Amino acid sequence: MSGAATAPEWARAELDRLMARGTAFLGSRYAILGGAMSWVSERNLVAALSNAGAFGVIACGAMEPPRLAEEIAATQALTDKPFGVNLITMHPRLDQLVDACLAAKVGHIVFAGGIPPGGAIKKAKDGGARVVCFAPALVLAKRLIRSGADALVIEGSEAGGHIGPVSLNVLAQEILPHVKEVPVFVAGGIGRGEAILSFLEMGAAGAQLGTRFVCATECIAHPAFKQAFIRGQARDAMPTVQLDEAFPVIPVRALQNGGTRRFIEFQAETIRRFKAGEVEKEAAQLDIEHFWAGALRRAVIEGDVENGSLMAGQSVGMVTKEQPAAEIIAELVGQAAAAIAARRPDAA
Ligand SMILES: Cc1cc2nc3c(=O)[nH]c(=O)nc-3n(C[C@H](O)[C@H](O)[C@H](O)COP(=O)(O)O)c2cc1C
Repeated sequence: MSGAATAPEWARAELDRLMARGTAFLGSRYAILGGAMSWVSERNLVAALSNAGAFGVIACGAMEPPRLAEEIAATQALTDKPFGVNLITMHPRLDQLVDACLAAKVGHIVFAGGIPPGGAIKKAKDGGARVVCFAPALVLAKRLIRSGADALVIEGSEAGGHIGPVSLNVLAQEILPHVKEVPVFVAGGIGRGEAILSFLEMGAAGAQLGTRFVCATECIAHPAFKQAFIRGQARDAMPTVQLDEAFPVIPVRALQNGGTRRFIEFQAETIRRFKAGEVEKEAAQLDIEHFWAGALRRAVIEGDVENGSLMAGQSVGMVTKEQPAAEIIAELVGQAAAAIAARRPDAA
């Protein structure tokens, strides 16, 4: 294993220096976030990542405030290291979810799924939490900083789950040179330490990975879900297909399966019914939106990998086996440190 321990001290020190802004912000050993994944990022994976020196993030998803409070407390029982909570901005009880985080003294709240209302950012900050937001473009990055965001994540379209249209390769060039006010973490398609190193050198404060952590031993995802990740290649992790621009679908990157194939047929049939006057436009759109309801849970928890949603990033090809979270983190850090060391072979 190419653990950090095998790289020379000076290379590890250089990596620490490159990660310093991120680690100071997160309070973790390494500037590596475990991106929140609904149903996947619960107490066990989050605590394992934080205990391994990374920064775990609980995915609140559709949880109600009391359930979130319970998950935070359970995570705190498993780790005394810092971790964050990811809240979806359109959750109808966003305010109470922020309250649950603040009551439990969660240090970092990540707002995802859209631009958070200014009131939520202020409430989180007034309560003592640091606020992290997703910035899909430079103008929005600047606006989020003005609204009080303490750090940003830029997530490229290589990522698993809900995605924007622009790759991390381009987002990093558009945003990193122009945002110095707050730390910026990069996400999407990252599976190895060398990539983390290159983004750090472009000015990123750290990296957020999701897909790479699904097959952590501690992760509670169903064995069939993990097997799909171990088998999956980059080209299998595709965005949802939209058949008709009059019926928009939310782009989600996932491994192709029976569900993704049926979704295309379902859209075609729904659009046909609309054109035949059998269904109103709004009802047809809702039918299409509801197709995937509950589908991620079905795959992650129940192991229905044929009909459920196998949200995965293009980095899925770099997931080759189940291994403890600490081993994954050691590999990533080791690869980054080894890449630094390789530049001065005589200095080993
Ligand atoms: C199964 C799955 C579920 C996800 N759920 C969420 C979520 O609930 N909230 C969120 O902000 N991001 C979610 N993401 C995105 C991750 O937090 C992370 O940014 C992304 O996985 C990074 O790209 P990568 O998968 O290529 O590493 C999800 C990703 C996956 C693979």
